Amino acid sequence: MNVIVIGAGVIGASAADALAGAGHAVHVLDMRGPGRGASQASAGVLAPFIEAHDGDPWLDLCVESLSLYDAFIEGLRVRSRRPVQYQRSGTFEVAVSPDDVARLNALRAWLAARGVTSEWFDGAAAKAFEPAISAAALGALNIPLHGFVSVPDLVGALTHAASLAGASFESPAEAVSVTSSNASVTVSIGSRSLSADAVVVATGSWSSRVKVNGAPAADIRPIRGQLLHLKWPEDQAMPQRVVWSPRCYTVPWTDGSLLVGATVEDVGFDERSTVSGVHDLMAAAGDVLPAVWRATLHEVRVGLRPAPVGGLPIIGPSPSSPRVILATGHYRNGVLMAPLTAKKVVEAVER
Ligand code: GLY
Repeated sequence: MNVIVIGAGVIGASAADALAGAGHAVHVLDMRGPGRGASQASAGVLAPFIEAHDGDPWLDLCVESLSLYDAFIEGLRVRSRRPVQYQRSGTFEVAVSPDDVARLNALRAWLAARGVTSEWFDGAAAKAFEPAISAAALGALNIPLHGFVSVPDLVGALTHAASLAGASFESPAEAVSVTSSNASVTVSIGSRSLSADAVVVATGSWSSRVKVNGAPAADIRPIRGQLLHLKWPEDQAMPQRVVWSPRCYTVPWTDGSLLVGATVEDVGFDERSTVSGVHDLMAAAGDVLPAVWRATLHEVRVGLRPAPVGGLPIIGPSPSSPRVILATGHYRNGVLMAPLTAKKVVEAVER
């Protein structure tokens, strides 16, 4: 089939790669370029048991997608012939108050009941396990199943693999409307239009601006996230895994970079970084990793998370046409949800 994918963030790029790999003729449109929306400010943390808790419908989706990740990355490395930094080195969630200790021990018991391995470290043991953390930490919960992926590597490899499989990419190209008939779908981009057998709308925070048969593709709200890219001081032991605290999370890269995320701000489509964002993230990171105050500030990245007004990601045919597949609203979990979303998109296109 001929398929147009609108949006080349991690979701659109994963869908394009999976569709091209399944033999479809894929053309991808993006208003800015691959990975320039929410993906550019993602730290790539893969942590379903931190992001969602008991009874939250996101949990099963995120857990299922994480279970696909090893094969997703392995296949991508082979097909793209590119390295993708990916580690399942766990998350170390630090307790800084007695309430945190109680909450994390309750989480440990709940994980054990689900058959998920986790390990609690009391204060001194936590510091011995992860020497970069503050001596004031009361303890920490290690969840080895979790991990992280480099999002720039991931988006680059996905677009490259999709191209090798025949997909074409076009940007800047802002699709403003999608109109379906029984036989095809037409996408309007400014004054010109393109037709295909199916269209995938993966436009993240901008999804409500794309009209599908006259109505917004999805009801999505942008939530700004600011992320710091630091260079860790060379004479200090770098954290060995994702460190998560009540007010931030940090991700260590092999080149000595540390990512610190992320603010959660309801400020519309404002993609600027702010002094208060940098201040709050630095203060939060300094509480758990004191050596962060000696790091150098390389960059502040900003992305708009697509928060679905209905609460859950929207993956599947649009209500007005089976030829228009929606893949949006992944909020904090676009990178984590990429493998499962790509699989569901291919199923929906081929149905
Ligand atoms: N997934 C973490 C965040 O959105 O900040």
